[in-house]
Amino acid sequence: MDWTAYEEEAIAAVVAAASETDLDHVRVRVLGRRSELAQALRGVRDRDTGILLNGIRGRLEAAVESRDETLRREELDRRLRDEVVDVTLPGEQLPLGHLHPITQVRRIVEDAFLGLGYEVRDDREVETVEYNFDKLAFAPTHSSRSPRDTFFFDETHVLRTETSPSQIHILEEKEPPIYMVSIGRVYRRDAITATRYPIFHQFEGLAVDKGITLADLKGTLLHVMRALYGPDRRVRFRTHYFPFTEPSIEPDVSCGICGGVGCRTCKFSGWLEMGGAGMVDPRVFENVGVDPGRWSGFAFGCGLERAAQLRHDVPDIRALWEGDLRVLRQF
Ligand code: DAH
Repeated sequence: MDWTAYEEEAIAAVVAAASETDLDHVRVRVLGRRSELAQALRGVRDRDTGILLNGIRGRLEAAVESRDETLRREELDRRLRDEVVDVTLPGEQLPLGHLHPITQVRRIVEDAFLGLGYEVRDDREVETVEYNFDKLAFAPTHSSRSPRDTFFFDETHVLRTETSPSQIHILEEKEPPIYMVSIGRVYRRDAITATRYPIFHQFEGLAVDKGITLADLKGTLLHVMRALYGPDRRVRFRTHYFPFTEPSIEPDVSCGICGGVGCRTCKFSGWLEMGGAGMVDPRVFENVGVDPGRWSGFAFGCGLERAAQLRHDVPDIRALWEGDLRVLRQF
């Protein structure tokens, strides 16, 4: 047996091992229990051969260990290089939502009225016929009392058709002076179209004090319309009829899309209809035990969807109810 050649070949194989698995195979072949070296060591009889073979084994073991260390270091270097994490890079972006356009408009309205010293309230959506109609002086024959127009639960309970019952609630709860705005959902049996939806939102205002006039109503609406649509708006009134106001009016706001000269949005009139308003009818005061000789007041009601549509130029009300993110992300 040429042990010098054995050793040289073994060392060369150890040095050439490219991975730890490779190295392990080489180690088993040249140093393992069934290697020629191990077998020869088991049969050693004389001292010189023992020294020679043990020397070879010692050097081979050292070579394997050193190669092993080299391979581990190389592997560590590779991982440190390849799997590096740059902690200074920006993290993954979390998608951030925003308020629905109806909620945005609602907050603008709330802020505008809080700034005027009004209290903001929220009332029940299931209302009694008494509060939704009777106490608001709706005539017994008024068309809104029909189940064709209004969702009835039974003879005496409806889904409120407007936020006006809040006027009755607050007038029964406290003595004037009263400055309140009530915001919430209302329901009507309308088919869904581009301009109507059976659920929508209204904001309802009521001011009751001594010596309140139509001029106060006009100024208040002007303030809110400017908060909603910008500083250059004008407000005008047209006469109308509502059961619970006398006189009743419909406020218009000048069209902000064309500046009042006329465009498609305002149907070429320069004005946009904003809802209903008027001076509180003395019958309403009598229904809640407030003396109409001492107190006067105004009330108004406007749709939030309409306000959102005009603010953002949304042609179809359905866009505000369908929750389509491609649409909502634009506002
Ligand atoms: N409640 C009316 C509607 O839904 C709007 C309205 C008109 C509210 C006149 C008022 C008012 O407070 O005074 O059509």
